Amino acid sequence: MNPLAGKSILLGITGGIAAYKVPELIRTLKRKDARVKVVMTENAKRFVSPLVISTLSDGLIPSLWEGSITHISLAEEASLLCIVPADYNIIGKAASGIADDLLSTVISAFDGEILFFPSMNYRMYNNPILQKNIDLLRDSGGTVIEPDTGELAYEGTGKGRLPAASRIVLEIEKALTPDLLKGSYCLITGGGTHEKIDPVRYITNRSSGRMAYSLAKCCYMANGKPELIMGITSSKDDENLPYNLIRVENAREMQEEILKRWDRVDYLFMSAAVSDFTCTSSAKKIKKKEKSDLKLKKNLDILLNLKNKKKEQFVVGFALESDNLLSYAKKKMKEKEVDLMVANDISSIGSDFTSGFLIFPGGEEPFKCRKDELSWKILKRISSKKS
Ligand SMILES: Cc1cc2nc3c(=O)[nH]c(=O)nc-3n(C[C@H](O)[C@H](O)[C@H](O)COP(=O)(O)O)c2cc1C
Repeated sequence: MNPLAGKSILLGITGGIAAYKVPELIRTLKRKDARVKVVMTENAKRFVSPLVISTLSDGLIPSLWEGSITHISLAEEASLLCIVPADYNIIGKAASGIADDLLSTVISAFDGEILFFPSMNYRMYNNPILQKNIDLLRDSGGTVIEPDTGELAYEGTGKGRLPAASRIVLEIEKALTPDLLKGSYCLITGGGTHEKIDPVRYITNRSSGRMAYSLAKCCYMANGKPELIMGITSSKDDENLPYNLIRVENAREMQEEILKRWDRVDYLFMSAAVSDFTCTSSAKKIKKKEKSDLKLKKNLDILLNLKNKKKEQFVVGFALESDNLLSYAKKKMKEKEVDLMVANDISSIGSDFTSGFLIFPGGEEPFKCRKDELSWKILKRISSKKS
């Protein structure tokens, strides 16, 4: 699912130093098949070239006075209005109902969702008048995304930095995605585990963590509150994303972190590839000459150890098999009180693609797709099940 496909985004650019980052954002939105029209304030044109903006976008609208009632037609055709960067001035104008140029007049006429991405020096951001204006915008239905704390154009670091383009795009995607999860807390595990043999060696597997990263993104877009517990991963997530990520090394640590949160979990997605085996580990590095027949033992089973599952808690389990996929996965589903089982073919591990079956009470659905598409299939199925 691509919530941006075919959508009309109206982008307002104001006179903040971060305006120089907007061309890259336009390109990203266009790559995702959105239509992007732009309105710039006169001061924004000092920070980023209108020629660049008009070349990359689907149109830079020149002013309030060109065409007949431009501000109304722009407000009518856009799915979403995003102000990037939103400077101190536009936040004040929007909060107090001033409409004295094209952008502020479009804001006054727009009745869809407006996203403001404030960006300014921390002194301006901490100004109590700005904070009151942000509260006013939120109270009247606007969405104001907190700026990052980090390197600023002047005076080192502080709160006021424009978030990375990936985060801005995620917020835009979220605004365009149906509210499937209604604020539910989603705990997602991913990656493989390291079960220690000695201080330098371990038992592990080829899990990349991609399924979990993609589930977290989709849960966030569908208005869930995701938290990730990640083992060892070969792929990296974007660090700029707005949810918590806890790192663990082995099955025991993963289980501990899940149990701390289990009581408040609405949805648990167990996509981690927890090692089925562990062994007695040696405190010292095992020497080459030493006897090296590893005694494997069964590892703990996190799902079996989850006690007191409430009726309203929903568990999505994952099974990866090289043979008899359906029958093994169905058996696991029964044994472990899983509400929806994702049975993956062995080729799915470490890959962007996956194939297998979604198994639910009373049936199964085959899939062969990218992991982000599978995440949407899972979310759609569980949200229709719960509502
Ligand atoms: C070099 C320079 C950088 C500026 N950077 C910012 C900024 O990052 N954020 C902000 O809110 N204002 C910033 N300002 C102040 C705004 O440009 C100023 O308030 C202007 O009136 C905004 O006009 P506009 O909202 O119509 O675009 C900056 C001004 C200058 C001269």
